[in-house]
Amino acid sequence: MSDKILTTTAGAPVPDNQNSWTAGERGPLLIQDYQLIEKLAHQNRERIPERVVHAKGWGAHGTLKITGDISKYTKAKVFQPGTETPMLARFSTVAGEMGAADAERDVRGFALKFYTEEGNWDLVGNNTPVFFVRDAYKFPDFIHTQKRHPKTNMRSPTAMWDFWSLSPESLHQVTILMSDRGLPQTPMNMNGYGSHTFSFWNDAGERYWVKFHFKTMQGHKHYTNEEADQIIGKTRESYQEALFGGIEKGEFPRWKVQVQIMPEMDAEKTSYNPFDLTKVWPHSDYPPIDVGVMELNRNADNYFAEIENAAFSPSNIVPGIGFSPDKMLQARIFSYADAHRHRLGTHYESIPVNRPKNEVHHYHRDGQMNVYGGIKTGNPDAYYEPNSMNGPVEQPSAKEPPLRIHGDADRYSHRIGNDDYSQVTALFNLFDDGQKARLFANIAAAMSGIPQEIAERQLAHFDKVDPAYGAGVRMARQTMDGREPAISVTPQTPQQAAE
Ligand code: NDP
Ligand code: HEM
Repeated sequence: MSDKILTTTAGAPVPDNQNSWTAGERGPLLIQDYQLIEKLAHQNRERIPERVVHAKGWGAHGTLKITGDISKYTKAKVFQPGTETPMLARFSTVAGEMGAADAERDVRGFALKFYTEEGNWDLVGNNTPVFFVRDAYKFPDFIHTQKRHPKTNMRSPTAMWDFWSLSPESLHQVTILMSDRGLPQTPMNMNGYGSHTFSFWNDAGERYWVKFHFKTMQGHKHYTNEEADQIIGKTRESYQEALFGGIEKGEFPRWKVQVQIMPEMDAEKTSYNPFDLTKVWPHSDYPPIDVGVMELNRNADNYFAEIENAAFSPSNIVPGIGFSPDKMLQARIFSYADAHRHRLGTHYESIPVNRPKNEVHHYHRDGQMNVYGGIKTGNPDAYYEPNSMNGPVEQPSAKEPPLRIHGDADRYSHRIGNDDYSQVTALFNLFDDGQKARLFANIAAAMSGIPQEIAERQLAHFDKVDPAYGAGVRMARQTMDGREPAISVTPQTPQQAAE
């Protein structure tokens, strides 16, 4: 017998949790059975909107330990030597819905929230150092091609390759996605990247550009498409099983944390735009510097409360860390907090998993889910600013140095003068013969059933990376000929749909 009494949410004891309150033994129900109504009403409200992208995810709590010394680049307390910061990670696939199978070929989200003593710093990255598009204007179009076709309600390879072949800036990310690293075995067996260029600034007010890397210490492990099919046939939750199960057993995954640092004025000199999210900074130019180790060592007690309710946003930075002119990053600074207000409610930062561990003082007021207990100023008379009521005041030392920008306002073409190929060539050259063969086969499989004109347009891009790339995919497509397409893709084009 439990020593805890079951209560209503209002705290009153529940006399019977088995039998509803009825008029006579055979019913009907009485509307005064508030406990029954409350139970049904709560069930109706158990679901919140799933994330519009990255809906399927797996997460855990952990620690970031700083072992290196990069204090000359940043004043951020989270990076000072010896600092240990509690953190939360959520990994995800991009396109699948909440119930999607884990072992699907897709980019993986790598979202981190560091509860620093100066506020939460969120790094909302992926397991790839680059992305499919470089202008945020294209992001919703891109995502529409990854989600379901509005008529068939199925994924459409035609839409994917149509968009990619018309957007050559996607080639770098498409190549990673179709390579071995596009299908990691578990979240522990992949790297994470901040992907964007961010900035560091130090006590002297000097700015440096920075890229963040999280290198798996468990080693890279991947599935082939065939292996993944086998896994999915057995379980849809292979990532959850591996991450949750591993941590329960005391096997704590770790990542080596590294940064690449670029002096501010170098951005004017590099042959590529260092704020272009489809590009990496070659390691030979900007060698990775070891900074510390991230370890995941605690499972959530409640998945919904701590992982589904987690709200990561690139807008969450702390003194010593800043943004960059990257157009994608700039849009994300808006988009995530907006998504959270829609998905979780106005005061989503007051949900325990999102709440900073330092004290929060602000003048935002009422609204849905304001569980702060009024405004957070420490004095009920200090509800506006400026005030003479000892309310919280700004801290000028948190002001970052000016961001150098120049140029006239215009809609500049992001396709003109951008080399979309040579970094993909560098990647292609890293692949051994086996990796290349799997790349070709994965692409051929993903392209099956798409219109020839779209395939030709994409093959021309592969040719520009390396003639062997295009030739390899052509050969793999021929080998595939005669086999059934993996996915039905009707209608393929607007014309075909109209026929
Ligand atoms: P380097 O050889 O110095 O760096 C290679 C990087 O590529 C390492 O970070 C390595 O990650 C990663 N890598 C190795 N094999 C693969 C693979 N099969 N798929 C994806 N990534 C892989 O060369 P560069 O810095 O000049 O970069 C060359 C190319 O490597 C780039 O064009 C880019 O496509 C890719 N790359 C570069 C990164 C960078 O920040 N410079 C980061 C990741 C990829 P690991 O150490 O974990 O094996
Ligand atoms: C999730 C928008 C690009 C990584 C999301 C969400 C939105 C969004 C609205 C859902 C947020 C939520 O409901 O919690 C955008 C926009 C982009 C963009 C507008 C481009 C302009 C990127 C890029 C990366 C990325 C470039 C990685 C480098 C993620 C991750 C998540 C996510 C990891 C899941 C976060 C979590 O685990 O909760 N994105 N995104 N996104 N995005 Fe993006």
